Amino acid sequence: MTTSTTNRPESGMTYMPTLRNLRFNLDPQKIATWNKGSIHLSQFMNSLSLFFPVGERFFIDSVRNYRDTVSDSELKKAVSAFIGQEAMHGREHDEYNGALFDRIPATRKMEAFVAGLLRQVQRLPKSWQLSATIALEHFTAILADALLTEPRILEDADIRYSRLWLWHALEETEHKAVAYDVWVGVMGKGPYAYLLRTGGLLVASVVFWSIAVPFYLRVIFHEKQLTNLKGWGQLFQYAFGGIGVLRKLAGPWMDYFRPSFHPWDHDNRALLAQIDTLEKEIEAA
Ligand SMILES: [Fe+2]
Ligand SMILES: [Fe+2]
Repeated sequence: MTTSTTNRPESGMTYMPTLRNLRFNLDPQKIATWNKGSIHLSQFMNSLSLFFPVGERFFIDSVRNYRDTVSDSELKKAVSAFIGQEAMHGREHDEYNGALFDRIPATRKMEAFVAGLLRQVQRLPKSWQLSATIALEHFTAILADALLTEPRILEDADIRYSRLWLWHALEETEHKAVAYDVWVGVMGKGPYAYLLRTGGLLVASVVFWSIAVPFYLRVIFHEKQLTNLKGWGQLFQYAFGGIGVLRKLAGPWMDYFRPSFHPWDHDNRALLAQIDTLEKEIEAA
């Protein structure tokens, strides 16, 4: 389902995201081994998925808080598309996480923990909530770029799981500047905005990893894989070694601290050329 395809790269504002209503029909039996048959790799990405539905609802609320302050008609449209895309991601990752809950009931509590934490963040000033949102959107966008530019991450993965991750990464790329442009409209580019924005990334990153790592260890413990050295070796190679997904994120993460930073400074629009083909494949599956 396509609602809009406007692209406005020259404006310095945003790329217009397109709302797509897609279903992935994941095989729940493959939840722990969908990526190269490896529990360590599959559960690493599954642990990230635990943050998505509740996180995305938080992003939607944070941007919605400021929706009425947006006067630019294109940005208004982009905000609606952003909300629609995040809602679809939440829906599909709810189904994804359901398969994980069935396999490891403790993961349901982990997701509830993140939801509880985000409810606390929603008691903070709205500008702080938006700061957390743009920080996490930056994090998601650089992760998405890594996923789209390093084919080894999803090589030999189950096709349905792989399509879901690619679709999510492409849409995160499409809408990577929407919340940011709302932020600039509301907060401007002065020193206070800079401090709140960069402080948001620092806090969000520390909080995120201090929750994600114990979640992952708990899942691996449940899978009785804590002493599987081959699995840990695979993960190390994937995260910090040759493939090095996380190692390669350091530079793009730092980019956010440039005072003039804008998400489209890293112009990776060319990656979006594959989205129509992917959409047709998913619809035909
Ligand atoms: Fe998303
Ligand atoms: Fe997003």
